[in-house]
Amino acid sequence: MDNVIILAGGQGKRMKADMPKPLFPVLGTPMLGWVIRACEDAGLSRICVVKGFAAEQIDAYLDGKYETALQEERLGTGHAVMQALPFMNAEQDGDTLVLCGDAPFIDSDTIRGALELHRSEGNAVTVITAEVENPTGYGRIIRGTAGISCIVEEKDANAEQKKIREVNSGAYWFKTADLITLLGGLTQNNAQGEYYLTDTIYLAIHSGKRAGAYLSPNPDVVLGANDRKGLLMLETVARMSVIDKHLENGVAFTCTDGITITRDVRIGVGTQILAGTIIRGNTVIGDNCVIGPNCIIEDCEIQDGVQLNYVQAYRSRVDEGVKIGPFVHIRPNSHIKSGVKIGDFVEIKNSTIGEGTAVAHLTYVGDSDVGKKVNFGCGTVTVNYDGIVKSRCEIGDNSFIGCNTNLIAPVKLGKGAYTAAGTTVTKDIPDYALAIDRSPMTIKEGYSLRKLKGKL
Ligand code: UD1
Ligand code: CA
Repeated sequence: MDNVIILAGGQGKRMKADMPKPLFPVLGTPMLGWVIRACEDAGLSRICVVKGFAAEQIDAYLDGKYETALQEERLGTGHAVMQALPFMNAEQDGDTLVLCGDAPFIDSDTIRGALELHRSEGNAVTVITAEVENPTGYGRIIRGTAGISCIVEEKDANAEQKKIREVNSGAYWFKTADLITLLGGLTQNNAQGEYYLTDTIYLAIHSGKRAGAYLSPNPDVVLGANDRKGLLMLETVARMSVIDKHLENGVAFTCTDGITITRDVRIGVGTQILAGTIIRGNTVIGDNCVIGPNCIIEDCEIQDGVQLNYVQAYRSRVDEGVKIGPFVHIRPNSHIKSGVKIGDFVEIKNSTIGEGTAVAHLTYVGDSDVGKKVNFGCGTVTVNYDGIVKSRCEIGDNSFIGCNTNLIAPVKLGKGAYTAAGTTVTKDIPDYALAIDRSPMTIKEGYSLRKLKGKL
């Protein structure tokens, strides 16, 4: 069986945070999560993460799903892999993939392509490389007559070597048994006094084994971040590659300003995404919608033809043709059925809103089951919480709720129930009845003239 070792021991001092660098997010997912997903997409599941700095944070993130090895002190990438020796010893047949936990764009095609070359050439080690415009900081690939002859680190390179633009991505396939042997030959004889994993190439060749280099068609595999500026660059690369994919699928953008869409979001043909819109998680959006400007949509199902304008929606479903906004909050577990109109300053929580219902302005609907063609007057409040328990409201089809009605839950309005403006409903209303809760109005003539005598 093949193994994967992901190096995640480094701190990333220049990030200026007490968090291991591989845990910094790109498009909302920690870089380590991107790397693990690429492995799983490539069909690799025997994974060991080498942790070091703030190891407990790595543990918390992995949540026991993968093996880990602790690197007590940071003595280089070779030393980090040595910490995973017990993991490799338990499974010495097959090959071992070594990856950096802070290079998120490694992809499953590159992993598979490199493994194919590795096996077909019968290599002890195959390094995954890329050609980049600016190779500064990366290990340079020194090609020989038979593939690769060694890797020279930036700090150890001479002027001629520094010009080489083929660089080490930090990802490698090893024959597991060979890797175990090669690690034994590493020394700290270099500019940084570290055990360089890259020296395994030279060592392999000098012990009569084969080493190869697989040039990835995806140059982004080398990208990592050393500081916040680099992280922003990764975010931009990821963000634009997701937007590119949607453009290819027929989604419309007039600009990309402030638009962030995470990787698993699906969007239908002809849908327009407007500025300032963030779409995350497991969201699925249908065809011909207009989403934005300035929406946050997370884990939602949005059907065809929906228009959302300044809306935040979480873990909810919005059916075909619904128009919502501006300034609306749809909280989890809501279902907005087709033909519904929701206008400004409305909050819906844990509620179903039936077909054709209108909630036009300044209304809170929480923990409610609302029927079809209901009209909510401005300022309606479902009073769903008494300070101890939350209760539900049930509102029948064709009900008409007057402005500034309070519905004290639990309460049920029948079909076609009416409430007069300003009513506080404390009892169920039968079908087709009107609830009115007002004391008779009195008029006191000349009241302010007397009260403000001499001041008017
Ligand atoms: C390494 C490579 C370089 C390559 C570059 C790609 C070596 C000697 N050099 O350089 O050729 O171009 O990656 O990004 O391998 N880590 C540990 N423990 C350690 C040291 C590092 O776990 O003691 C982890 C880091 O968290 C990181 C990865 O190993 O995920 C790479 O370490 P880093 O220090 O970034 O290596 P580079 O010097 O950039
Ligand atoms: Ca690095």
